[in-house]
Amino acid sequence: MPLSNNSKQVNFSEAVLNWFQDHGRKNLPWQLNPNPYRVWVSEIMLQQTQVATVIPYYENFMQSFPEVKKLALADEDKVLHHWTGLGYYARARNLHKTAKLIYDKSQGVFPDTLEELVDLPGIGRSTAGAILALADDKHAVILDGNVKRVLCRYHCVEGWSGQSSTQKQLWELATKHTPVNNCRSYTQAMMDLGATLCTRSKPSCSTCPLQHACQAHLSQRTSEFPHKKPRKKLPVKVTQMLILQSKNGTKVLLEKRPPHGIWGSLWSFPEIQVNTSISNFLQNYGFIAQDEIISWNSMRHTFSHFHLDIKPQVLRLEKEPAMLMEKHDWHWYDLKSPKQLGLAAPVKALLKKLGNQS
Ligand code: ADE
Ligand code: SF4
Repeated sequence: MPLSNNSKQVNFSEAVLNWFQDHGRKNLPWQLNPNPYRVWVSEIMLQQTQVATVIPYYENFMQSFPEVKKLALADEDKVLHHWTGLGYYARARNLHKTAKLIYDKSQGVFPDTLEELVDLPGIGRSTAGAILALADDKHAVILDGNVKRVLCRYHCVEGWSGQSSTQKQLWELATKHTPVNNCRSYTQAMMDLGATLCTRSKPSCSTCPLQHACQAHLSQRTSEFPHKKPRKKLPVKVTQMLILQSKNGTKVLLEKRPPHGIWGSLWSFPEIQVNTSISNFLQNYGFIAQDEIISWNSMRHTFSHFHLDIKPQVLRLEKEPAMLMEKHDWHWYDLKSPKQLGLAAPVKALLKKLGNQS
């Protein structure tokens, strides 16, 4: 793990805090008169929705439900009405439920410890940290999507954040970098830096306060981090490609593929399903093999949705193309003076191998 000495840690939060002074957001409605209730509502609204969309909803909500007691005692319909258009309505129902829980338990005194906060429905560790830091300027750590992205890049964190080991590592890094003082500004700064500079695509490294020690930036690998969720295992399809050479071996049969589907309109070898007989294919076209069929090792070609395992079957015919059947979507490809054609990648590789052998 790069950069774990103390001076770098100080530099990290200092750089972030300095940047915040000039570039951070300081007049968002939930930053005015902050308290745990106001921050909590804002964090829930901001979970799936952008700041600009949230602001009018937030102001309206706070007008009607200025404190947790008002929310707890409100009609569910009225609460949902205030959410209309924001989407993800379970957020509003949970907010209401949690408000009632807080009110019943403590007459509306909002909890102010991490342990109590994470016990409440809909409040995870990061939201709890944000409430403590943003409302009360307490020493608390957050790890939301923005912070994860910054840390993954700054430290070139391998793995993806759905893995528990990566999650653990990111929490450790987040904790290490979070300053004991000025936690409110630091927390807001990290959210702002992630949202405005260290964006998902094309981060603005040249104006970033972390550029001098950011490992991904320094190694020009910002696009590699954070690592993406590994894709589901792809299904495997199999096929046989028939590499039919003319009698003297200089020409090979290619077939133009249909315009749609994989390798649309490219030229490829004739294909037949595995476990179907090559001699049937030959018979259909009046072809006769000169000698044994040689099976080359399978090669894998991966598409976005499946792997294709290709079994090349090489054989030589006992005649020259002039003596053989013609079809309009066939081409006898001359290995010595090849015509310029669009070729599927594995076909190109197989032709090259064939050319090297003859
Ligand atoms: N997203 C989540 N919390 C936020 C905050 N306090 N300010 C801006 N964007 C946020
Ligand atoms: Fe993100 Fe670039 Fe800043 Fe690194 S230097 S934290 S990649 S914006």
